[in-house]
Amino acid sequence: MTAEPLEIYLEEGDLERGLRDDVRAGLSAGSKWLPPKWFYDARGSELFEEITRLPEYYPTRAERAVLAAHAPDIAALTGAKTLIELGSGSSEKTRLLLDAFTRRGGLGTFVPLDVSVSALRGSTAQIAADYPRLRVRGIVGDFTRQLDRLPTGGRRLVVFLGGTIGNLLPAERGDFLTAMRAALEVGDWLLLGTDLVKDPSVIVPAYDDAAGVTAEFNRNVLHVINRELGADFDPAAFAHVAVWDPEHEWIEMRLRATRPMSVRVLGLTVDFAAGEDLRTEVSAKFRPEGIAAELATAGFAAAEFWTDPDALFGVTLARAR
Ligand code: AVJ
Repeated sequence: MTAEPLEIYLEEGDLERGLRDDVRAGLSAGSKWLPPKWFYDARGSELFEEITRLPEYYPTRAERAVLAAHAPDIAALTGAKTLIELGSGSSEKTRLLLDAFTRRGGLGTFVPLDVSVSALRGSTAQIAADYPRLRVRGIVGDFTRQLDRLPTGGRRLVVFLGGTIGNLLPAERGDFLTAMRAALEVGDWLLLGTDLVKDPSVIVPAYDDAAGVTAEFNRNVLHVINRELGADFDPAAFAHVAVWDPEHEWIEMRLRATRPMSVRVLGLTVDFAAGEDLRTEVSAKFRPEGIAAELATAGFAAAEFWTDPDALFGVTLARAR
């Protein structure tokens, strides 16, 4: 089957308004910040795909190993009729699940949801071509906001992979899991990928690779703001920094001004001192007990927890109760 036309719940106008609000709030704060979702224009999505192939960036490979080993278990345990993927990107690892469900039979619909139209167009067309019996309904949306628009009916499995939940701050994470639970019925399933706490000497290089791809990905957010909002950032004047925060057990990406600068954006003048940081991403790492506890608080019961052989990355299968 060909993929159905993308369902767009996030219009250009919503996106631009969201970007404007975030830029205004984040760049006028005492400690400057920007939310990570603005990395992912077409170029940023490409750079992220490149990151997933870097030798230092273990999460994608480790998660793929878990899915390769346990996709048949996931298909058998859930018996899902509808598979919904949040923040689907290229859906490359999700194919392991689609393969297992195809072998087992019974899955009717695949619903990838992503903010990136470009990533969705490519992935829905390819998946529809490769899985001819599957109905493919791509949704352009923000996974923190469009949960009430998820398709209903039949046993559902929502998958949220890659460790992307770690991009939310702890309070946002609780709200997100609670909203996710509210969007599901008792007995529906959630498959959650989480990067695990480990020695920072493994984590930091994954976010500061030798080839400089992550640095370019990080600076891409400044190109996005220049293009979308007519700002005059000089991306080359910002250094990429990755810092492990042992108290919160997250890694932060920052852009550090290498000289004093005044940037014009949205009628504001944003001053940077030399050495001043702009936080662009938090990527939290998890402990198995913490994951189960956060899920329980939100109304899920963790049924299975799997890791790759090196215990770098965890995948939890939980059920709405
Ligand atoms: C796509 C959010 C899972 O946090 O590891 C990769 C994004 N940032 N390198 C992550 C990312 C820097 C990635 N997620």
